[in-house]
Amino acid sequence: MKKAIVYYSKTGNTKSVTERFSGFDLLQIKAQSDNPNIYKPLLTELPDVRDYDYLVFASPVHGFQLCKITRAYLNTLGDLSGKTIDLYITHQFPFAFLGGNQTLKQMKKIIEAKNGEIRFMTSVNWGSKKREEVIKEMIKQYL
Ligand SMILES: Cc1cc2nc3c(=O)[nH]c(=O)nc-3n(C[C@H](O)[C@H](O)[C@H](O)COP(=O)(O)O)c2cc1C
Repeated sequence: MKKAIVYYSKTGNTKSVTERFSGFDLLQIKAQSDNPNIYKPLLTELPDVRDYDYLVFASPVHGFQLCKITRAYLNTLGDLSGKTIDLYITHQFPFAFLGGNQTLKQMKKIIEAKNGEIRFMTSVNWGSKKREEVIKEMIKQYL
């Protein structure tokens, strides 16, 4: 089975979690600018996921929602039917209602519109004492 984690990371948190998984190709989404306020970011690296059976999409939360670069990338994807798909996000604010839940919901909506079926979703709260526990549990679960 071919497995990839497709991620965007502005300040390195999401990237550092991604690098702890083994057995996955790590595919980074890149944009011309990492300015989080650009409404329609110009993407310079758009990972091609067509050959993969199992995909994990990972993103930070920006401004209580899915960051615009990840959103722009997910919107470019074609049909995702038949693939196993898991998600995770990293965020800073202490409560999931301050962006974490909304971000997962937005990612799920875009992926389901492309016939993707989501299995697991995880919020990694960067400021939480339980962060390590959550990351370790996710790495065990996402296989
Ligand atoms: C512009 C900007 C907006 C952010 N907005 C939120 C937010 O609304 N809610 C939240 O929990 N964290 C927010 N954060 C914190 C990031 O989601 C968090 O630090 C994340 O782990 C960053 O991931 P990265 O290092 O992979 O870019 C924001 C960070 C930035 C830079």
